[in-house]
Amino acid sequence: MSAYRAAIERTVRPGDVVADLGSGSGVLGMMCARAGAARVFCVERNEYMIGLARGLARDNGFGDRLEFLHTRIEDLTAFPAPVDVIVSETMGAAGMDEGIFQLFSRCVSLLPRPPRCLPTRVRVLAAPLAFPELALRASRGKRVEGLDFSSLAAGVGHIPQVLPVTPGMLLAPPRTLFSGELGVDLAPERLEAAWDPPPSGSVDAIGLWFSADLADGIILSNGPEGPDTHWNQLVLPVLPGLGAVNSPLELVVWPRFVAAGPRWKWSLTWGENTHVGDPATLDAPESVEDWLKEWGVTRLSVSGSPPREP
Ligand SMILES: C[S@@+](CC[C@H](N)C(=O)[O-])C[C@H]1O[C@@H](n2cnc3c(N)ncnc32)[C@H](O)[C@@H]1O
Repeated sequence: MSAYRAAIERTVRPGDVVADLGSGSGVLGMMCARAGAARVFCVERNEYMIGLARGLARDNGFGDRLEFLHTRIEDLTAFPAPVDVIVSETMGAAGMDEGIFQLFSRCVSLLPRPPRCLPTRVRVLAAPLAFPELALRASRGKRVEGLDFSSLAAGVGHIPQVLPVTPGMLLAPPRTLFSGELGVDLAPERLEAAWDPPPSGSVDAIGLWFSADLADGIILSNGPEGPDTHWNQLVLPVLPGLGAVNSPLELVVWPRFVAAGPRWKWSLTWGENTHVGDPATLDAPESVEDWLKEWGVTRLSVSGSPPREP
């Protein structure tokens, strides 16, 4: 939050019109208003969050400057006025899990002149990891109260997970999978990286994280070598682990962005071998609405409680 505050104070000028994409609590929008923005369009798909954010904006004296647009950014066709600055925290653990590049590009395409973007650039980094805890987790799930759950546990060991990665788990230096300018670049369909054979340790997973240039000289990262953050890191398991590897490792990731969360496929190749990360998750429905339809419900809400996304 303090990194975003510093970057907003460097980027937003008095009288600016700002768009906060995926505004959630409205905290970034409020920081923009405090930095002098005349109008802030808070674009958010979650109606419950909009209700909360409206209250917070009022409580902080910004009720007249924050305007809420309840829509998916993908469905936005115009802003109420030309926007000077777009701000967003839709990075997720691996920098592009929430589709930040697509969201910025879409909004830039709706504007008569290019806005200042915050972040300006996001990099996705990856490294092979020794993560023995992953195999333990998968094996612990094999029996549940005397019942055989081994087929389910085997699948769980191949699904992307958000977990804390510590510097000691890295088996090779991080590589950049993608580096893109917000509002200009779209996330590619395929990301690649390669490493020399790790000198020691069994490769149990690939870890992914981001480094974002928020503004000149202000970098925000959830890398394992920096301070802990709420994001942790995205871990792509390659269970049961590769053991000692003598050939170079080649990683390919096919990121896909859906409302219910990222559905990523990945493959790790070494020598003659290839491990493919759970392609079954690719068959999951595209959006929350599709999930709800599939489950035969129109809304997962109980009167008085917030609508929940699965
Ligand atoms: C990581 S949160 C950040 C929220 C806010 N910056 C904060 O700190 O409270 C991302 C928010 O973006 C919203 N969001 C994500 N993708 C969206 C989309 N495609 N269209 C509209 N809202 C979206 C989510 O509902 C969520 O509230």
